[in-house]
Amino acid sequence: MHITRRAFLKSGAMAGLVPFAPKTLLAQEGVPPELAARKAMLQLGPDGFPQTEIWGYNGTAPGPELRMGQGSVFQTRLLNELDEPTSVHWHGLRIDNAMDGVTGLTQDGVAPGDGFDYSFTAPDAGTFWYHAHARSFEQVGRGLYGAFIVDEAERPDIDRDEVLILDDWRLNPESGQIAGPFAGTHDRSHAGRLGNFITTNSAANYTSNVKKGERLRLRLINAANDRIFSLAVAGFDGWIMAYDGMPLTNPEKLEGPLYLAPGQRVDLFVDVTADEGENAFLARIEDKQGFAQATFPVTGSAARTPRAAPAPLPPNPNMSVGDLQSAMPIQLKMEGGAMGSLKTAVLDGKSMDMEQIANANQFWAFNGVVGLTDTPLARLSRNETARMSIVNDTAFAHAMHLHGMHFREVLADGTLGPLRDTLLIFSGQTRDIAFLAHNPGKWLFHCHMLAHAASGMTTWVDVA
Ligand code: C2O
Ligand code: CU
Repeated sequence: MHITRRAFLKSGAMAGLVPFAPKTLLAQEGVPPELAARKAMLQLGPDGFPQTEIWGYNGTAPGPELRMGQGSVFQTRLLNELDEPTSVHWHGLRIDNAMDGVTGLTQDGVAPGDGFDYSFTAPDAGTFWYHAHARSFEQVGRGLYGAFIVDEAERPDIDRDEVLILDDWRLNPESGQIAGPFAGTHDRSHAGRLGNFITTNSAANYTSNVKKGERLRLRLINAANDRIFSLAVAGFDGWIMAYDGMPLTNPEKLEGPLYLAPGQRVDLFVDVTADEGENAFLARIEDKQGFAQATFPVTGSAARTPRAAPAPLPPNPNMSVGDLQSAMPIQLKMEGGAMGSLKTAVLDGKSMDMEQIANANQFWAFNGVVGLTDTPLARLSRNETARMSIVNDTAFAHAMHLHGMHFREVLADGTLGPLRDTLLIFSGQTRDIAFLAHNPGKWLFHCHMLAHAASGMTTWVDVA
């Protein structure tokens, strides 16, 4: 099917035709007609370790890998087989606001036993993901997420394409079951709910055989609630090709540790340089030590001469953020948390001191306001450029995610960083981002550390 489609696109392009009809038909080849959110048992640990009860789409975590061609129509029906309301957010896809899947902002939660039809056109090729967006701190934490891959019209020059979803789970070591609490006071007020069991595609020892000389595309997705991964490769020559689904104009050689904050993705091209009989690794760096996050045993040699550095991936449409000179300024001050200096803030319309706020199990504020309110952080007109200055006046790092539109960081020298949808901001930093408000609707802007999002770090922008 893939070959047929590509052949069609090619001949279509040569003849100057718009190949719209077959796309719609073929769009569903990598998309199940239904995504049922339900409980299931999963073998997370090694054989002999008890199975873990998870919440997953179609009974697995990660849920099914959704895959389609750029510009095609996505369509699926969410079925809620959980005991509580849910919805699905298509993280990083620049789609219609009505399909964004945010319970309480863009739709009502889908009640247990009910369904909801999601349908949209995928404008950008790249690595995206989908996850529950109702009580995300628990629903995502229990496994309600999966990869959403949009293929370029032309397959890039690679031998293999692998999706690696990183997560951490908090398991009871005896029972193998997910351990509470999900909304713990300490987790919320510090670095979030970190797990004690780290996985790639739900395997603690993820392994995939490769051949020396092969070029792999690794699509890394951080689906963990709160953990920041610090990553490196060994036995590979690597390049960063895209961040958060958006291709870099110039691929960057992968050297030092690469941070992947919750919600972020990175596309790497890696050439296997390790010899036959050795292993290549995606490594996780913790306290200056490397751990195998994914192991790639080299089982043979690909009969090919080494390739040149990769050409960039084709750009997506609408990657400009517009004119910064006339940009609408927005200020965002992040405060609160343990060891923070926040004294009072507004919660549910009332000014409260930190003790009262903590008693409500809330800990963080944006511009002195705790959590989502009826008033947006900013009102923008369509196609206006916004420039937001974000001050992290807390003792922790935060991963700020904008729904519906990508942004670029405005760097200290005035140049623009890569197009992203989630930015990691360390304690004490001030970082500026700019985006073009091209997509009308109500768009959430929140820390993707889901413990923080649930305890104050959520706001929204309104694009008229
Ligand atoms: Cu990954 Cu509010 O989203
Ligand atoms: Cu945070």
